[in-house]
Amino acid sequence: MIIGKKMKINPWSSTTYQDYTRLRDEFGIEEFSEKLWKKLPKPHKLLRRKIIFGHRGFNTIQDSIKNKKPWVILTGLMPSGKMHLGHKMVIDEVIYYQSIGAEIAIAVADIEAYATRGYTLKETKDYALKDYIPNYIALGLKTNKCRIYFQSQNQDVKDLAYILGKKINWSQMQATYGFNGSNNMTHIFSPLIQTGDILHVQLKKHGGIKPTLVPVGVDQDPHIRLCRDIAQAHRLYNVTVTKDNKIGVFVKVDENIDRLLDNAEKTLRSLRFSKLKRITDYKAIYINDAKKTDIQKISQTLALTEPKYDGYGFIQPSATFHRFITGLTGEKMSSSKPESAIFLTDTPEEAAKKIKNAKTGGAVSLEEQKKHGGKPDECVIYELFLYHLIEDDKELGEIYTGCKNGKKMCGECKKKAVELMSKMLLDLKNQRKNAKTIVSKYIKK
Ligand code: TRP
Ligand code: SF4
Repeated sequence: MIIGKKMKINPWSSTTYQDYTRLRDEFGIEEFSEKLWKKLPKPHKLLRRKIIFGHRGFNTIQDSIKNKKPWVILTGLMPSGKMHLGHKMVIDEVIYYQSIGAEIAIAVADIEAYATRGYTLKETKDYALKDYIPNYIALGLKTNKCRIYFQSQNQDVKDLAYILGKKINWSQMQATYGFNGSNNMTHIFSPLIQTGDILHVQLKKHGGIKPTLVPVGVDQDPHIRLCRDIAQAHRLYNVTVTKDNKIGVFVKVDENIDRLLDNAEKTLRSLRFSKLKRITDYKAIYINDAKKTDIQKISQTLALTEPKYDGYGFIQPSATFHRFITGLTGEKMSSSKPESAIFLTDTPEEAAKKIKNAKTGGAVSLEEQKKHGGKPDECVIYELFLYHLIEDDKELGEIYTGCKNGKKMCGECKKKAVELMSKMLLDLKNQRKNAKTIVSKYIKK
């Protein structure tokens, strides 16, 4: 798709994206560079292979991991149809983060599916309970520090959606989503429900204010931006660099100003800043011995104090963005086009058939391919290896170069893909047998 000046990312469309670097730059998403993932314990293949290509605010999460402080993953699933390889990616990420100590919360986006896809709440519930969640468990999601809930049954989520919506107006919603007079109100409201999902994990009831990471496909970026803006808008303090290059703490509300300034002063001193200049008329404290790199720490420390003054103190959620796996037909992988998708409940035979028919990056003839090589970057079989089937980077690298220099042929690759896929599907089938009996252990309000 062509990204013009006024491009919007539409989370509900069936667009496929080609140029992820451009998309990233256009929307101010930061690069998920090697520097970030190299520091993580046993980095997952989706991280190592740049499938997760962008982020917002990941540094906050990195700090928590480094300092062994609590942090939480919140993501959501919209069960519309059966779970396929595209959906598997997010849960692979979640399971990885669970293995390195994150607390996990997963929203079943039944309200969103009802609002935007025309499913009934009952239909989504069935998909979630019978297909998605058993598959999550089969893939390795553990019950430890893990909670799955339905949007429609979570009062905190719905309350936050309503209350936090106060700081966002209709023009902003139109500018972000391109809404117009024909969109129904539930659809218009659903991004606020998602904000409720993301921020409710920081309520006291759920362990309080803490760094939150939302791993999603890049189509979700509008929701992430909205949520980060809303979180910030509800803070009582703003810590920022002023026009004349000073670092200051500003009180954003009009009640309790003196108490809030006293509290900020005390907090700053506890962080060992001493060159403080308080200007009550500006509702500000300037910190003359702070550096820009201190802002995050100051802001987070102040956030923790905000509930004492009836604030939420939400830490802006962080997000990572992954690329989408291409469908077997070369278009988007979609539940509504079964030939484009491999479902986790497909039989090995069904999957083999789709793989055999898949679009590769091979040349027009064997001879041509031997001479000029194939194009692994444009090959969905290669993508299957890259995203799902091959763990070992060296083995993957050999396929890549073998293809490029004409040593590997598509028939051979497809055969390997069929074998590995059958193994994966049979394995999942086996694991699902036990999974079904323990689904209820994961569902919590
Ligand atoms: N909107 C997401 C989707 O279309 C699902 C979702 C709901 C979600 N709530 C969320 C994703 C919170 C991340 C965080 O798939
Ligand atoms: Fe794809 Fe393999 Fe063919 Fe290369 S040889 S184009 S990687 S199927």
